Amino acid sequence: MKKYLVIGNPIDHSLSPKLHNYWFKENNIEAVYEKKQVEESDIEGIISEMRNGKLDGINVTVPFKKSVIPFLDDLDNLAKKTQSVNTIYKDKSKIIGTNTDILGFELSLLQIKYEVKGKKILILGAGGVTSSIILALEQMKASTIMLSNRTKEKAENLKKIFPKLELIKWGDVKNFDIIINATSLGLKGSDKISINYDQIKSRKLFFDVIYNPRKTNFLLEAEKRGHQIENGKMMFVYQAQEAFRRWTVAPDVWAGLVPAINKKVFQLLEND
Ligand code: ATR
Repeated sequence: MKKYLVIGNPIDHSLSPKLHNYWFKENNIEAVYEKKQVEESDIEGIISEMRNGKLDGINVTVPFKKSVIPFLDDLDNLAKKTQSVNTIYKDKSKIIGTNTDILGFELSLLQIKYEVKGKKILILGAGGVTSSIILALEQMKASTIMLSNRTKEKAENLKKIFPKLELIKWGDVKNFDIIINATSLGLKGSDKISINYDQIKSRKLFFDVIYNPRKTNFLLEAEKRGHQIENGKMMFVYQAQEAFRRWTVAPDVWAGLVPAINKKVFQLLEND
């Protein structure tokens, strides 16, 4: 029986076990996926469970996507560039970190048939998921990527990795086609992002990485004004799909199993 785990803090809200356990069953794989709330000091021990075969793969969520890095043997190029690891797998005896959030974000925009090429993007927030979003947007050939974060230093640190970023003051809104909430503001019902929504005239895309609640205040304000809105549900599902594929790559097979995203998957995720 293979064993997989998602670690984070908090972790209660995570829908990953439901999704992956369903996919394991669908694909007749004998495996179990659990969630575990951990502290920073537990990480080394948990990764060593992958070395001794007690664990076969790990998903990493807030706030450990960066802090797992020193305990891994290697990072693939995606994880290296973003300095963010959300999926850990074993390749022969090596423990490797990768990042499936990037593909998750790309596919979620592809799915709604939104053409990013040549578009101006404004990202709010410079936390754990932002570097993945920036890399995805660069890969999709966005023309301009602006970044606004309450704490300026964190935005400046990202500019060191992505020199083309345009930093703008927290609260300011410049002309954009897509605005992305990558802050944690919206997780609580009372959270509000203090931007001037009335200043945003023609129809734009408002994307929120948060999917629970389904419509954050940010998306509700946008919807009221007739903008297109999208939450992070599909990004979540696609990052999970890519993690599953990565874990099921067999030694002599280049591709892994791509589990189905079907009605049952959405039912599973809706029931919470
Ligand atoms: P981490 O910073 O540990 O990676 P995160 O949840 O990935 O955590 O990121 C939180 C993001 O939400 C950050 O961009 C944070 O801004 P700061 O860098 O200034 O902390 C942003 N955020 C959280 N609460 C906020 C608030 N009340 N106002 C503005 N931004 C907030």
